[in-house]
Parts: sequence; structure tokens; C-alpha cells
Amino acid sequence: MSSQRPPESQDPRRALASLPVPDAEAAAHSARLVEHIRAAVDASGGFLPFEHYMDLALYAPGLGYYVAGTRKFGAAGDFVTAPETSALFGWCLARQCAEVLNHLGGGVVLEFGAGSGRLAADVLDELSRLNAVPESYLILEPSPELRERQQETLAGHALAGRVRWLERLPEGLRGVVIANEVLDAMPVQRFRAHDGAVQELGVTWDGEHFAWQARAAGAEMEGSVRAIEQAVGERLPEGYESELHPAYGPWLASVADVLDAGVALLIDYGYPRQEYYRLERSRGTLMCHYRHRAHEDPFMLVGLQDVTSYVDFTAVAEAGEAVGFWPAGYTTQAHFLLASGLDGMLAEAAAGDQTQYLRLTREAKLLTLPGEMGERFQVLALSRAYDHPLSGFGMRDLLWRLG
Ligand SMILES: C[S@@+](CC[C@H](N)C(=O)[O-])C[C@H]1O[C@@H](n2cnc3c(N)ncnc32)[C@H](O)[C@@H]1O
Repeated sequence: MSSQRPPESQDPRRALASLPVPDAEAAAHSARLVEHIRAAVDASGGFLPFEHYMDLALYAPGLGYYVAGTRKFGAAGDFVTAPETSALFGWCLARQCAEVLNHLGGGVVLEFGAGSGRLAADVLDELSRLNAVPESYLILEPSPELRERQQETLAGHALAGRVRWLERLPEGLRGVVIANEVLDAMPVQRFRAHDGAVQELGVTWDGEHFAWQARAAGAEMEGSVRAIEQAVGERLPEGYESELHPAYGPWLASVADVLDAGVALLIDYGYPRQEYYRLERSRGTLMCHYRHRAHEDPFMLVGLQDVTSYVDFTAVAEAGEAVGFWPAGYTTQAHFLLASGLDGMLAEAAAGDQTQYLRLTREAKLLTLPGEMGERFQVLALSRAYDHPLSGFGMRDLLWRLG
């Protein structure tokens, strides 16, 4: 994240010290959400599981970060995503969509959490160039503010008539599902290894602020942590903290329910399980983003900052298989984009306007260099009733790493 989400190497404590101060209106908004969450802490006896806290901080109706009216993406927002970095991202993704739509003999594209609408516009541009226009481009967006922004972005598009915003998922779909940086925005549970046992980390109110509180984990959380220990081949050391991702399963089940045939392309920053729970990653991967600074304190700037965690791609693949998806490809963003024709797009641009060519080259570096988004971001394809090879994974398929 160029000021995309900063790399893990950025020191979160320094970022914390340099956080800009919100204006009075934003502070008042945050205070309202704090009151709302405090009531939830009280109602749950003084211990709110972290996943509920994160859900409210991001999605409480009218108040949460993603549903209220702050600007999130781009230079004036909190972070920059791949579609905001370059149209090349959407154009490459469209190549993979076109291949699937052609094999299916048509179908739809369904995008979850469509951000500013930029990705939809770029995918539709390229699908149009490729003569592979989908029957419709469906968007499921929980945020009323973002939905409005998407409608503005797409209003003048030549294929605007094909775009539909959904209240709920329609059944009987065939086509491609896209979710870019959606999994990382799903609420997570937090746990800690303590005294040979597993504790659940939740949220309490200390009289002035939200604060972490621990309690003995329930049997399900304990079982999940023991399964992680088996996967990494070691006991997690005293004090080790990390996340679990219970939201993937229900979300993938809802997608499997409506996708009769096709492929879901899930793009996000994350790791296979073995890497996610490496012993040196002993504080987990929870991160907050505010005005292009990253830090680890989810109790600050409540409702004004993004709260996110890295994705456990092994858990996504397992949750997908449990509801009838087939893991059909897994690779880095860089390899996916290169296998989807990125070089050719640049070569084509080189023959035209030099200023545009130089701009696209700079953007391609941001999308593909290992120190930028190239390796931290990965692409997982889950297929259903679709058994053709996916060319985006043809250069380097890392599915074996999920095992
Ligand atoms: C980090 S933003 C990414 C936005 C956009 N995809 C992009 O790449 O610029 C995360 C988005 O995921 C959406 N989201 C989270 N959970 C979702 C769900 N279950 N269904 C649909 N969208 C969801 C959020 O509302 C938010 O718009």
C-alpha cells in the first residue's frame, strides 16, 4: 500500500505518535459510537468478544467506519487499495473473468464490497474491449455511503445499464465473484496462549477507555488453537496472541448457496496458515489504518479508523471446501497479474502516449514489486461446477502451500 496499507515493517508505535487529530465533528461522531459500543459491553456483562467489538466499530448501522460518511480510500482517506492504485489491476482481473465467462457461455460478475466503484469500472472497460460483457455486474455493498460513491463513479460508464446493486444475493448465479480486500475487513476473534491454556481476548470499559480483557476460551476456540498448533508443529509460546477468522465460513456458505457454477476470486493480504501463525508473529496481525498511518490499537479513533487483520488463506480454502468449493488456484498478486497479461498491457501502452506509459509502469511496480503489493497480496480462486484451468494461476500456482 504506497500509502497503501503500510508494510508490516513500519513501526506501529511511531505511527501512533504521529496520528493526525480528528476535527470536532469527527470526534463527536466517534463519541457516539463509543457510547453505542459501551452499551454493548455493559449488556454482555463487561466482556465483549473482540469479534463483536470489531463488527460494531466497522459496521454498526449509521455509525461504524464502513457505513458512516468518512472518506476511506485514496490520498484524502486512510489507505489505498489496488484498484485505487491502477486500472491495470482491474484490467488483468477482467482477463480472468472473460476466460471464465467464455467457458460458461456467459454469466454475471458479482463484486462484494466494491469500494469507490473503480474496480467495477476498470473490469467493465476491459470486458468490453474483450467482447466479453457480462449479463450484469452485480454489487453487494453493505455501506450506503460507498454505494452512493460507486453509483457516482459508474454513472457515466458505457455499461452503467448492466450494473445492479443488490440488497440480498439472488439465487442461480453463474459467473465470477470478486472480493478485493473484503476478507480482511471481516471481524476476527482474538486469543492468547497463557499458562498452557487458551484465553479469549475481549473488550471491557475501564471507566475512561476500552481495554483488553482475557477470559478462559470456550471449547471451540480452544480446539481451533490446538489445531493451529498441530499445523505449525509446535505449542504456541506463553503470551502468544493472534486471531481466528470465524466469519469466512458463513460468508462463503452464502456465496456457495447462490453460485451454481463459476469461480470466486479472493484477493487480499495474507498468508498460508503455517506462515500466519509463525512463532515470531507473536502479536498477531491486527492493524488499524488512519490517514495513511498504521498502528495496532483498535480502541483509538473508534469508527474513524479501519480495523483489519491479515487473511489466513488456508482457513479460507478449508471454509470453501466445507461448503462445496474447490480450491482452484492460489498465487501472489504479482504472478496473477503477470499471468493475466500485465506485460502485454504495458507493451501496448509503450507504443502510445509516453506520459501514460510511464505512469502505468510506475503503477505496475506498485502492484507487483515484492516490497509493495506484489507478494503480501495473494489471490485465491475457489471454483464450483467449473473445471477448466485458470490462466491467472498458470505462471506459479502455490496451492500446495495451503496444506
Ligand atoms: C478495505 S475495503 C475494500 C474496498 C474495495 N474492494 C477496494 O478494493 O477498494 C473493504 C470492503 O469490504 C466490505 N465488506 C466487508 N464485509 C462484507 C460482506 N460480508 N459483504 C460485502 N462487503 C463486505 C466493506 O463494507 C468495505 O466496503
